[in-house]
Amino acid sequence: MTKAQLNTSVLKARPVRRGCLSVDFGTAASKIAYEPGADRFEPLAIGDEGDPFWVRSAIAIDKGKMVFGGRARLGGSPVLTSFKSRLWGDPARLDAEALTDGDISFSYRDCVQAYLAFLTQLGARRLREKKVSPYTPRRYAMPFAYDEAHRAIRRELGEMIKRAVVLADTFEDELLAGIEVARMREALDALRTVSAPEWLLAEPPCVGEPVAAGAFAMDSEIGKQTVYMIADVGAGTTDFCILCLKKRADGDLEPIQIRNGALSISVAGDAVDEALVEFLVQEAGEQHRKRLMTNAREIKERLFAVGADDDEEFYHDLPAGDLVRVNRREFLASLHWRKIARQLRSAQANCFDGADRKYLQDFGGGAIRIVLTGGGSALPLTKVLAGGRSGGQVRVKRTKVEDFPVGIRQRFSAITGVLPRLAVALGGSRDTLPADFDRSAARTSTGVVAPYVPWAFDKTKTGLEDERDSP
Ligand SMILES: Nc1ncnc2c1ncn2[C@@H]1O[C@H](COP(=O)(O)OP(=O)(O)OP(=O)(O)O)[C@@H](O)[C@H]1O
Ligand SMILES: [Mg+2]
Repeated sequence: MTKAQLNTSVLKARPVRRGCLSVDFGTAASKIAYEPGADRFEPLAIGDEGDPFWVRSAIAIDKGKMVFGGRARLGGSPVLTSFKSRLWGDPARLDAEALTDGDISFSYRDCVQAYLAFLTQLGARRLREKKVSPYTPRRYAMPFAYDEAHRAIRRELGEMIKRAVVLADTFEDELLAGIEVARMREALDALRTVSAPEWLLAEPPCVGEPVAAGAFAMDSEIGKQTVYMIADVGAGTTDFCILCLKKRADGDLEPIQIRNGALSISVAGDAVDEALVEFLVQEAGEQHRKRLMTNAREIKERLFAVGADDDEEFYHDLPAGDLVRVNRREFLASLHWRKIARQLRSAQANCFDGADRKYLQDFGGGAIRIVLTGGGSALPLTKVLAGGRSGGQVRVKRTKVEDFPVGIRQRFSAITGVLPRLAVALGGSRDTLPADFDRSAARTSTGVVAPYVPWAFDKTKTGLEDERDSP
């Protein structure tokens, strides 16, 4: 396939100026929301019956075809998951080989581009059903960027999201059924020289994940000003962000991101899966490690399902008729879980310590409302992140926001159970978003232009380095 064979209609299309599509490309699952205007935002049903509002971030090569999402798991071939972590955790190695079929190979970068095309096509189908242009400008969410390397990745993702539209137009529904690897390879090569129009991205094009979640979760029924911390516990990263919601004289709400008040660490659901494997291997034996790794996410989600409590216990089937006992109370008492809890707690404390204190004290009165979002918010993290006083130097009083604001709950009453996972996508589509912190024009707590982050991502700042496995 040459460049001429790609469907590049979007390059000649008239710019679309209405609405906003918000793409939350997640480590475990991806979500899309659509905002037609006037805060009538809604999640798009891009998933299947079981999980209508998200698709797995997964790719596999099955019988010569590249398949995506839930289908990637059905064929029995090895499945590439958590590839977004590569984007964020190891950007220098994005060109390493991720998937192969005979002599055709795909790098992590290729896989992200191909998956984004699949996601774009899922969204485009739903938009067409609503008689809305599939070229609606889009915004994407990403973890907080610490340094130039991560800011570069954020920009590159914007390019990929634009190019994904060309790939989606070229392959259309074939992307949903599975696409021959040779054709995908050719299309990806041809796509490299395509420059898709800027208007495909909304303004701002990229938003921090917790900022987006905050824009969704903050209560409009507040007093003059309230300070929130959003802790978005996903699969790959936990993203913290402190936001102040201010009621302006005209009654409108203005969310302000507090200077130096954002931090992301790669300790989240995937890390819990690893911890659970270590814990279960002790009981089941080394020979079952591989199987446990494959099933860890599923075992964890059962252990922390809605309605389960600390007495939860079940047996998980292993090969050769073996069983392993999974006990929630024992796992929560283990060093493996406690290490994760400590890492999260100290990262949060560092976020408070680094933040502009004036806002924490003057406007927050030393008490901060904590909103837990993301799929990992199903974990028992209230004591760790949302109750009593924080650790660190600042020792902030934390109170948990038990639920989303009334208006949001009423509006999404049919799907309240899944709202924490949709918060980033839904909030990202709103036009009341606070300007993102690391954009040069971002509003800061002092009203001046935001400086770039003063420190590069430094593990000692997140408390990860000095963690010891002490009981
Ligand atoms: N009941 C549950 N108990 C514990 N964890 C759960 C539960 N349900 C989902 N999760 C976990 O939540 C994570 C997925 O959440 P989410 O969709 O917010 O992540 P993501 O957006 O894909 O990741 P990230 O934001 O890090 O890119 C997975 O690790 C998943 O196992
Ligand atoms: Mg997420």
